[in-house]
Amino acid sequence: MKQTLLLLPGDGIGPEVIAEVTRLVDLLAPDLQIEEGLVGGASYDAHGTPLTDETLKRALASDAVLLGAVGGPKWVGTARDKRPEAGLLALRKGLDVFANLRPAFCFPALVSESSLKPEVVEGLDIMIVRELTGGVYFGTPRGIDEKGGLRRGYDTAIYTHPEIERVTRVAFEIARGRSGRVCSVEKSNVMDSGLFWRQEVTLAHAELGAGVDLSHMYADACAMELVRAPKQFDVILADNLFGDILSDEAAMLTGSIGMLPSASLGAEGTPGLYEPVHGSAPDIAGKGIANPCAAILSFEMALRWSLGRAKVADALFAAVGVALDKGARTKDLGGELSTREMTDAIIAAL
Ligand code: NAD
Ligand code: IPM
Ligand code: MN
Repeated sequence: MKQTLLLLPGDGIGPEVIAEVTRLVDLLAPDLQIEEGLVGGASYDAHGTPLTDETLKRALASDAVLLGAVGGPKWVGTARDKRPEAGLLALRKGLDVFANLRPAFCFPALVSESSLKPEVVEGLDIMIVRELTGGVYFGTPRGIDEKGGLRRGYDTAIYTHPEIERVTRVAFEIARGRSGRVCSVEKSNVMDSGLFWRQEVTLAHAELGAGVDLSHMYADACAMELVRAPKQFDVILADNLFGDILSDEAAMLTGSIGMLPSASLGAEGTPGLYEPVHGSAPDIAGKGIANPCAAILSFEMALRWSLGRAKVADALFAAVGVALDKGARTKDLGGELSTREMTDAIIAAL
């Protein structure tokens, strides 16, 4: 049976970068059955909801889902549960992709693009494992209301034992394939959910952590250490919110957020969700200058993690490195290539 890849280009630069990925699919995996659907603002405009049941059903029936980006100024005033971002959250929850892998890898050619000194980022290779379907993103109660004459807004940061254990297990497995080091971050000094996170990760380590060297750090200290001495980290394990923030920070170490892919994985045998870490970049949408590397490398991760094609993935990853070595740069990397020309350079390197 053919493997199926569902493309959900989304909004803003999403369709621009996904269009480039389809050129690589044609070249590297022409046997894949490609399907396409709407998500985010594009789905809201067409169907009045940022994710239809039908699209979620198709996602669940695929081998992998590749999403561009969602959101933009057009939908800012929309009710929260109808906003493009709500569609993305519903897709993550619906696919139950609880482990979000966000590599921060500094390509040798981009060492000088980082805002940090070359010696600080040269050879940088971090994997952030972000819990993706729990925590304050989904906790209840939440809302904006009035109580005792006071207007207020609130969310609930909550984690259960199985939620922490399953993502910790993934972080340990990934660390075993790397240096074996995992740094778990939280705010156990102020938050009960953070204290519980540390206790659970420690327990999981005692039970499942053979060969893993586990350390803990407060999230604020981790944010600081990431810019002071990022190479001390190998795998960083974080909850949904801290993982979101720290992965954007780590992105900038590598030169541009336009470089960073992600993989979101659920239980064995269920479809993975692949998406660039960046958003819909409304400021450059429609100009044809977005960096396609994050989307292309997200496809690379799909080949590796969901489609069982590690060799092809290796070749694609190497081609991105060669294109960069030869000086291929989009505007965010200080160059002048268009989205399409950047992809041309990667294809030429293949
Ligand atoms: P953003 O990532 O869209 O943009 C931040 C900055 O990075 C902008 O200056 C943008 O031009 C630049 N940038 C991002 N991707 C780039 C690329 N591939 N090439 C070159 N430059 C790139 O973040 P934002 O501005 O905070 O958010 C814009 C919208 O995107 C919001 O609606 C937000 O909610 C949404 N968003 C979506 C996702 C997602 O779909 N996964 C992720 C983050 C933000
Ligand atoms: C990301 C984004 C999303 C998040 C938004 C758009 C819902 O920032 O993928 O990092 O906060 O998870
Ligand atoms: Mn984010």
